[in-house]
Amino acid sequence: MTGDHVRIDVGGTSYDTSVVTGTEGEQGIDIRDLRSETGYITYDPAFPNTGAVRSEITYIDGEQGILRYRGYPIEDLCAHSSFVEVAYLVIYGELPTRAELDAFATHITRHTLLREDMRRFFDAFPTDAHPMAILASAVCGLSTFYQDHYNPHDPQDVEVSTFRLMAKLPTVAAFSYKTSVGQPYIYPLNHLDYTENFLHMMFAVPSEPYEVDPDVAKALDQLFILHADHEQNCSTSTVRMSGSSHLNIFGSISAGITALWGPLHGGANQEVVETLLRIQQSEDDLQTFVQRAKDKHDPFRLPGFGHRVYKNYDPRAALIKDAAHKVIDKLVGDDPLFDIARRLEEIALADDYFVERRLYPNVDFYSGLIYRAMGLPLNMFPVLFAIGRLPGWIAHWREMISDPETRINRPRQIYTGATQRDYVPIDQR
Ligand code: CMC
Repeated sequence: MTGDHVRIDVGGTSYDTSVVTGTEGEQGIDIRDLRSETGYITYDPAFPNTGAVRSEITYIDGEQGILRYRGYPIEDLCAHSSFVEVAYLVIYGELPTRAELDAFATHITRHTLLREDMRRFFDAFPTDAHPMAILASAVCGLSTFYQDHYNPHDPQDVEVSTFRLMAKLPTVAAFSYKTSVGQPYIYPLNHLDYTENFLHMMFAVPSEPYEVDPDVAKALDQLFILHADHEQNCSTSTVRMSGSSHLNIFGSISAGITALWGPLHGGANQEVVETLLRIQQSEDDLQTFVQRAKDKHDPFRLPGFGHRVYKNYDPRAALIKDAAHKVIDKLVGDDPLFDIARRLEEIALADDYFVERRLYPNVDFYSGLIYRAMGLPLNMFPVLFAIGRLPGWIAHWREMISDPETRINRPRQIYTGATQRDYVPIDQR
């Protein structure tokens, strides 16, 4: 490799190509015509070495623990911005003027209601259904109401679908929660802001007034900001991949929600608190759980620890731990689970296994404790992640659909199955 030029010698053929360089200096070898020129493909299970797209949305430096949306550090956005403003930034690329922000917020507010027919949809699920399953189904179900306005190639359709998704996801989330607790649905209130409105739909009941606690709303808004995007993670890649078939945005985001649900991804926030509860109820000490997490014969891993990209403290986890102190102090006082979490972190960070593998708390380690202090049930935690991640999914879907380099996503494989065999009739097997 010299300068920008790369030569790969493989199977007696020389393949000449160049390096693609990003604005922060990240470099990738361009192998787009490797197969057509040499007959070889690359083999990179789980894609840790594969850049699938050029993207302008989010920058992560996993070694230094840096996360920026459209160039703005998350620490600054968290301190000064609101979730709706950050959503605008992530989706459109620039911080909005006052007029742009007001218009965006108004468009969202005007779409918060669900079609009345859709209320029946929630009745069809068992009351103990996981709300992520309901959320994914409902978002796909939204497409049935807007079939005339979801053409992926029509900018007006994409714009109105953006407003609809931003507006309706909290309503769907709150309705699925109300179904699970057998309470009446609470309709959106347009004078409340995005996060206040969500809290109102979750916790208000028709029989008495409900006041949104501004500290709780602020903390939840900041959590949404910290989840707003994370470049090519599993769910976002799922959104982009399904959208590359020119699937409408509702279907693509429904696929992303399903991918997020897994315990290695957004389901980890629920797993963390369930694990902390198990630890609290167990006779075993914390060391035993840490030992189990290290044991390769035991499937148990420490949820909320480790990350594909961060090999340093996840910057989101640092901010969330800070917020956890404030929210838990105010709402709960002493939380034994928070104490267990902090002691667990201390033990893990002093342990050679975690140090050598550079495993630190990630975004999910402390967020669940905040949600729990706010009175949110465990199975709603991944739903909160989904509400926060929505602007990122929308931004990536829009970037994907308007990128001239986008083609239907279709990886290849190294086939390792049987070679050609003769069919054996069933009575001879
Ligand atoms: N507990 C114990 N060991 C771990 C953990 C953990 N939480 N995470 C990674 N390791 C070990 C892993 O066994 C492997 O060890 P070895 O080299 O001896 O085989 C090494 O560390 C490298 O891990 P990996 O599994 O190859 O890393 P990955 O990049 O494929 O997976 C991960 C990343 C996040 C899926 C993984 O760290 C994990 O399972 N963490 C727990 C689940 C979790 O917290 N997920 C949320 C991720 S952040 C938010 C999000 O994306 O949704």
